Amino acid sequence: MKKSILSFILLLYVFSINAQTKLPAYLDLNQPIEVRIKDALSRMTLEEKVGLCTAESKFSTHGVPRLGIPELWMSDGPHGIRMEIMWDSWNHAGWTNDSCTAFPALTCLAASWNPEMAHLYGKSIGEEARYRHKDVLLGPGVNIYRTPLNGRNFEYFGEDPYLTSKMVVPYIQGVQANGVSACIKHYMLNNQEKWRGNIDVELSDRALHEIYLPAFKAAVTKGKVWSVMGSYNKIRGQYACENELTLMKILKGEWGFDGCVISDWGAAHDTKNAALNGLDIEMGSWTNGFSSNRANAYKNYYLADPYLKMLQSGEIPVSNVDEKAARILRLIFRTAMNQNKPFGSFAGPDHFDVCRRISEQGIVLLKNSAGLLPIDKSRYKTIAIIGENATRSLTEGGGSSELKPKYEISSLQGLTEKFGADKIKYAMGYASGKVEYDKVNPSPYDAAIIRKEAVDLAAKSDLVIFVGGLNKNSQQDCEGADRITYSLPFEQNELISELLKVNKNVILVMLSGNAYEMPWISKATTLVQAWYGGSESGHAIANVLSGNVNPSGKLPFTFGVKLGDYGSHSFGIIAYPGDSIKEIYKEDILVGYRWFDTKKIKPLFPFGYGLSYTTFSYGKPSLSSSSMTATDSITVSVKVKNTGKVDGFEIVQMYITDEKSSLPRPEKELKGFQKIWLSPGEEKRVNFTIKKDALSFFDDKKHEWVAEPGTFKVLIGASSADIRGTEKFTLNELH
Ligand code: GLC
Repeated sequence: MKKSILSFILLLYVFSINAQTKLPAYLDLNQPIEVRIKDALSRMTLEEKVGLCTAESKFSTHGVPRLGIPELWMSDGPHGIRMEIMWDSWNHAGWTNDSCTAFPALTCLAASWNPEMAHLYGKSIGEEARYRHKDVLLGPGVNIYRTPLNGRNFEYFGEDPYLTSKMVVPYIQGVQANGVSACIKHYMLNNQEKWRGNIDVELSDRALHEIYLPAFKAAVTKGKVWSVMGSYNKIRGQYACENELTLMKILKGEWGFDGCVISDWGAAHDTKNAALNGLDIEMGSWTNGFSSNRANAYKNYYLADPYLKMLQSGEIPVSNVDEKAARILRLIFRTAMNQNKPFGSFAGPDHFDVCRRISEQGIVLLKNSAGLLPIDKSRYKTIAIIGENATRSLTEGGGSSELKPKYEISSLQGLTEKFGADKIKYAMGYASGKVEYDKVNPSPYDAAIIRKEAVDLAAKSDLVIFVGGLNKNSQQDCEGADRITYSLPFEQNELISELLKVNKNVILVMLSGNAYEMPWISKATTLVQAWYGGSESGHAIANVLSGNVNPSGKLPFTFGVKLGDYGSHSFGIIAYPGDSIKEIYKEDILVGYRWFDTKKIKPLFPFGYGLSYTTFSYGKPSLSSSSMTATDSITVSVKVKNTGKVDGFEIVQMYITDEKSSLPRPEKELKGFQKIWLSPGEEKRVNFTIKKDALSFFDDKKHEWVAEPGTFKVLIGASSADIRGTEKFTLNELH
């Protein structure tokens, strides 16, 4: 008897301990996320669910304090963790511990054509976000480069959906391995800054599916991205953050996206539309005129009190907010409440090393006809470095991708370290005004005077290295406005022409995120496109110019001779920038090289182009079969050999031509690439697998992707205009 009483008491005790320590499911880190979500929802009030759907400060959302569910903290941007911003304004908070690694602009990453570098980039920037306690990194951006005037092209991956897709997936995977959400943006059709807040984009279903959706689809279905940022503009009459087609039908319907749609800052416009058409988290609104500084402004957000009232009245079913809250809780459990995430790291030598390597691999050698590169410094006593971009910070400005780097090596600094201060003399040559996002400041210098100083220095130097291009000022490579000319700004063309007159040894190094016209190109022998390289930019440029690194980048977008050569500038203002209300993408699927090839317009430098300090020969491509069906594949095999004297990367590209199709198709389209390393004399075999997807186009009548039986051509090239071998094959009917 006594024993049984004792064991009963013991049992009671164990049970009570167990009961006390048994966590609620939503806090039980061993429970599956979906169980935790269901449990959390069951404990939340309607107000708490609604609270999850809006900002609580400039860059954070409400958590559920009563239940210990934390806020979500977000940070720009795609190139590095932005300096801390004030709670309730765009001003910098002035912290002293937030100086980051400034990674290269994503256009530079795209120009590397190296998915391994993309993963390393995402891993590294994700570590910095994690260390800075950020749950959502507001990037990467994948908007397609349709016009060289778009102020934000430097934040994106260029003109081709296949290249963009292949580069953005590993970046996202790298970021999210840190328990930080990437936030693919700006979804979608935000391909310019002019009138971005309201322009209503019209385009064909083919252009939508073949050009503008693929990178977002890859991010969601392959990259498993946890959040998507809705853009400012309209699409076929509905704002992007309240769009039934793009958010409900495509993103959450066809693609099965299980994460959160986060509005761009101020991109929500209507409670019911936002609620019913897929917006999950509203950020940065100014609501109905209350400034964001008003204490209660957040309660006036479209998805705050107005939304609560519609739920309480039954105008919107409670299931609507349950669905949103479930997605937001899923994001919280994947990030802020993810117990397995690492602790990150911040602005350490490993990240600066990654920064330099990506910058080096993105640099594109466009001309080297006089053999000036690589520089043999023993040949020169005096080297003139000329150009404001040789000293100007290019991580400051540009809009929300602005950074406060721990350091930023300028070209002048990198080149001086490399070639010796005794040889180097500097002249600014041209000058822009102080960086601003929303206005262009006048230059504080007299252009004629600083140009003369530079030309005089060039005339008496053995070698000239000009560092110019665009910068992060408004109407340059900057958010909030587009460029107003395709020409280089600040009278650089005049300066470059004069430098080329007074010295035959001129190396032009251009830093930009966009193409530009080159009226002096026939006189220039040596041209390098070096992008915005971030903290290690100067070291990367010096390593490439000196030959310590063999350039291997290739252009992710076409350099047209003049603006009118681009498809988006061939149909009047309705095609760009629109009539301030509507814009029609009249070039349709012929974006970038698709336009130049099909219309037989010769560009200055084609998509996929880039030289090396060595040379490569290509063997004849061979096919595993001369025909395939929609259910099997063909392997294309080609040998590539380094026929020069130095090691180097080569980016082997595969394009596909559909010889005959029921609907018009581009002359060819990129469907494969591989970046391979070859030592002098070394030869490697490169294989590409062609499956149905590579042959398909979107049939807007059937509203599906189709691969029509018939003859196709596979083109292997060193660029879109340098095809080294072709082969034909047929796609047979399936019987
Ligand atoms: C900006 C940008 C977006 C950025 C956000 C927060 O308007 O369009 O890319 O992430 O606001 O700064």
